Formats: sequence, structure tokens, C-alpha cells
Amino acid sequence: MKRTLHIESNSCAAVDNLGRKTFRMELRGDAGLMHSGQFVDIAVPGLFLRRPISVCDSSEGSVLIYYKVVGEGTARLAQMLPGESLDVLVGLGHGFDPLRCSGKALLVGGGLGAAPMHLLCRELRSLGRAVTVVLGFNTASEAVLLDEFCAMGASLHVATMDGSLGVRGLVTDAIPAGEAYDCFYTCGPMVMMKAVCKALGDIPGQASLEERMGCGAGFCYGCSCHTASGTRRICKDGPVFDKEDIIW
Ligand SMILES: Cc1cc2nc3c(=O)[nH]c(=O)nc-3n(C[C@H](O)[C@H](O)[C@H](O)COP(=O)(O)OP(=O)(O)OC[C@H]3O[C@@H](n4cnc5c(N)ncnc54)[C@H](O)[C@@H]3O)c2cc1C
Ligand code: FES
Repeated sequence: MKRTLHIESNSCAAVDNLGRKTFRMELRGDAGLMHSGQFVDIAVPGLFLRRPISVCDSSEGSVLIYYKVVGEGTARLAQMLPGESLDVLVGLGHGFDPLRCSGKALLVGGGLGAAPMHLLCRELRSLGRAVTVVLGFNTASEAVLLDEFCAMGASLHVATMDGSLGVRGLVTDAIPAGEAYDCFYTCGPMVMMKAVCKALGDIPGQASLEERMGCGAGFCYGCSCHTASGTRRICKDGPVFDKEDIIW
């Protein structure tokens, strides 16, 4: 669904150790209610291809996203001001399934993989599930959404590569040992998600894959990947897949 959404706020929320900024953008308008793991595809004025960004939070009339400035599209987005409008495809993708978890859930996010975990945490908490969230960042200044996870009643654990916040090391180093999880969900760099799936062994899980996208809506097959159940489009059949389906 194509929608015109209005920028309510757009401000810097974090800076990584390469000086790249992460922005928090709140959009208002008729976006419909989106689910965790779904994404929006934003037409950046002056650029041909849309830019896919995960939904961090969604309510009637409002969408929250976090994006890191890595290239021209996100740099142009960062220049935009409250009151300006964006052409956005909303409700894209096949997201996480919170109903897969009937007990205790483990959410593992690397970098801005924390963003979709935020909406998933809200969904799981509203189902009455206990949620442990483990986030990994390179450094403390890059961390986002920590207060928000705590406010939802999640048990939060953080790892940073330089030890400036939480456990020093990889996100897998901060996963509490000896806990019995019913299901896990992860989003972040592929190498991180592969390590998370390996570390969690037989626990059922879902992971959100990322790929450069063309149409973003299932038509061009530019985002195809091989899975255990055949070729799948990350934008339409994913981005969330059961871990058993993923060929690392
Ligand atoms: C389903 C999905 C959800 C996403 N969610 C978020 C999010 O919540 N926050 C966020 O900051 N980013 C997210 N991304 C990545 C985001 O789409 C890209 O960073 C963005 O499109 C880059 O646009 P650009 O014009 O600034 O950079 P470009 O000039 O297009 O590229 C700059 C650099 O970013 C890399 N890059 C571009 N697109 C991707 C991509 N899809 N995956 C990995 N690397 C890429 C390029 O290889 C290049 O090194 C998501 C991507 C997908 C597919
Ligand atoms: S980006 Fe076109 S099919 Fe996925």
C-alpha cells in the first residue's frame, strides 16, 4: 500500500564509532497497523530506488523507524524536516510470529537489528510472555532503545565490542546461560544471526534476513535467496524465515 506520511520528528539518536549517525524518525498518517519484522519502503526524493527500513513501532496513524546514515539515500532522509512528506510503501514483508512462543522468548538484536525487536517485544508482552532481550553494539554511543525495552518489562542484557556498556564481546556472550527459552527471534548482520542460531542449538527460532532490494514488493526477484524450501524472495516471503529454512 502506497501512502503519503508526514514527518513528525527526525533526530539523531546515536553515533557509531565510525561517526555514522542513527536517526529516529516518527511518521504520521494512514499507515495501518504493522507487525514486527515488517518494513516500509521509502521513496527518497530525487532517487530512483526506494529504501527499505524495518518498523520499530506501529500504532494507528503512526510509524517509528530507526535508520543509520550509510549512503546517499539515508543521508538525504537525515536532512528532512518535521512537516515534510514522504511517499512510503507500508506493511511490506512477512514478519515475526509471536504466537510461536508459548513460554519464555529470547530476542537477540545486533546494531539496528534492535529496531524490529522493539515491536516484537511489545507484541510478546501483550500476549503475556516473559521476554529476555539481548542487544549487541560496537560501542555504548551506538546503543538505542534500551530504556524502551526496560519500560516494557523485558529483562535486558547488552554486549559491546569495546566493553563500554554491558558485557565486553559479542552479543552471544551476553545471552544468559542456563535459561530455558521456548523460542528465539533475531535480527542483525548475517554473521551474527548465524552465530546466534548455532549458540542456541535446538531451540526453535526465526531470523530476519537483509538484502539489497529493487521493487521491495515481490515483482523483480532481485532479493531472491536459496532456502531449504526453495528459492524465496526476501521482501515478500521474508524478511523473516524459520531458522531451519535458512541456508547460511
Ligand atoms: C528488510 C530490510 C530492513 C531494513 N531495516 C533497516 C533499519 O531498520 N534501519 C537501517 O538503518 N537500515 C535498514 N535496512 C538497510 C537499509 O535499507 C539500507 O541501509 C539503506 O537502503 C541504504 O541506503 P543508502 O542510499 O543510504 O545507501 P546506499 O548508497 O544504497 O548504500 C550504502 C551502503 O549501504 C549498504 N547497503 C545498502 N542497502 C543495504 C541493505 N539492504 N542491506 C545491507 N547493506 C546495505 C551498501 O552495500 C553500501 O555499502 C534494512 C534493509 C532491509 C532489506
Ligand atoms: S526486491 Fe523485488 S522481488 Fe524482492
